[in-house]
Amino acid sequence: MKTNNSLDALISERYSKPMSLPFELNETLETIFNHRSCRHYSQEAVPEQTIELMVAAGQSASNSSNLQSWSVIAVEDPARRDRLASLSSNQEHIRACPLFLVWLADLSRLETLGKRRELPHDGLHYSELLTVGVVDAALAAQNAAVAAESIGLSITYIGGIRNNPIEVAKELGLPPRIFAVFGMCIGYRHPEKPAAIKPRLPQKAVLHREQYDALAVQNAADEYCENMNHFYESQKMKTRGDWAQHSLYRIRGAESLNGRDHMLQALKVLGFQLR
Ligand SMILES: Cc1cc2nc3c(=O)[nH]c(=O)nc-3n(C[C@H](O)[C@H](O)[C@H](O)COP(=O)(O)O)c2cc1C
Repeated sequence: MKTNNSLDALISERYSKPMSLPFELNETLETIFNHRSCRHYSQEAVPEQTIELMVAAGQSASNSSNLQSWSVIAVEDPARRDRLASLSSNQEHIRACPLFLVWLADLSRLETLGKRRELPHDGLHYSELLTVGVVDAALAAQNAAVAAESIGLSITYIGGIRNNPIEVAKELGLPPRIFAVFGMCIGYRHPEKPAAIKPRLPQKAVLHREQYDALAVQNAADEYCENMNHFYESQKMKTRGDWAQHSLYRIRGAESLNGRDHMLQALKVLGFQLR
C-alpha cells in the first residue's frame, strides 16, 4: 500500500485501502492504530505493577458525573481463571494469559455510601444508572488497554464473561448491584502466533455529517464485505460467509446470544431493579 508517512501506513492498514491524513505519527497514535486482539499468549509474566498502571490509566478516563461507578477485579490465580474460562464458553486464552481483569459496573459502592450517610439514593435503581456504570467501565477499560499496549503487552476483551453472569458474580464474590461487564486477557503475544490489524468499516459507514445518511451506510457496508473477504483469505480465517452474513448469524436470535438472552432476569437476580 503506497503511503506518504508512517501514520498513513497504519491508517491505510486499518481500512485496507490507502488513506492520508495531515498529521505526524506519535507514540499515542501508534499504539492506538496498532491494536489487534491477542488470543495466543506466551508464558511470560506481565511486569510487576502492570495492574496498578492499568488501573491508574483507567481512572484517568472521563467518567459520568465523577460517580466513578466502576471497579475491576484482577485475577491471576490459574484455578480461578480456569473456572472463569469454563463460564465464558471455554475460551482458552483466559487460561493462557497471565493476567485477567474483570471490569465491573459497580453501583454497590454508592449504595453503601448512601446507607452510611443515611441519604437517599433511589436513583441507583433506574436503568439509567446501570448504563452509567457500563459506560464508565468501558471507558476505563479502554484507557487501561491502551496503557497496556503502550508498554508492549497485548489484550483481548472477553464479552463471554456475560454468558453466566450469576455464576461469575459468585466466583468473584460480588455484592449485589455489581455486574461483570466484560473480562480482559492481558499478556505477551505468543511469538509464533502473530495477529494482523483487522480492517474496519469505511468511515462512510460510521461517520455522518450533520444528519444520518442511511444510504451511504449500506454502500459502505457492501464495500467492507468485499475488503473483508480478502482479509479472511489472507489470514486463512474460516468464516460463515462474508462479514454481513456472519455478523447477521451472530445476531440471528436468542439462541445466538450464548445464554445472554436471559440478561434482564440475571440483572434482577444481581440486584438491579432497572426501573
Ligand atoms: C466488549 C467486547 C467483548 C469481546 N468479547 C470477546 C470474547 O469473548 N472473545 C474474544 O476472543 N474476543 C472478544 N472481543 C474481541 C473482538 O472480537 C475484537 O475486538 C474484534 O473482532 C475486532 O478485532 P481486533 O480487536 O483485533 O481489532 C470482544 C471485544 C469487545 C470490545
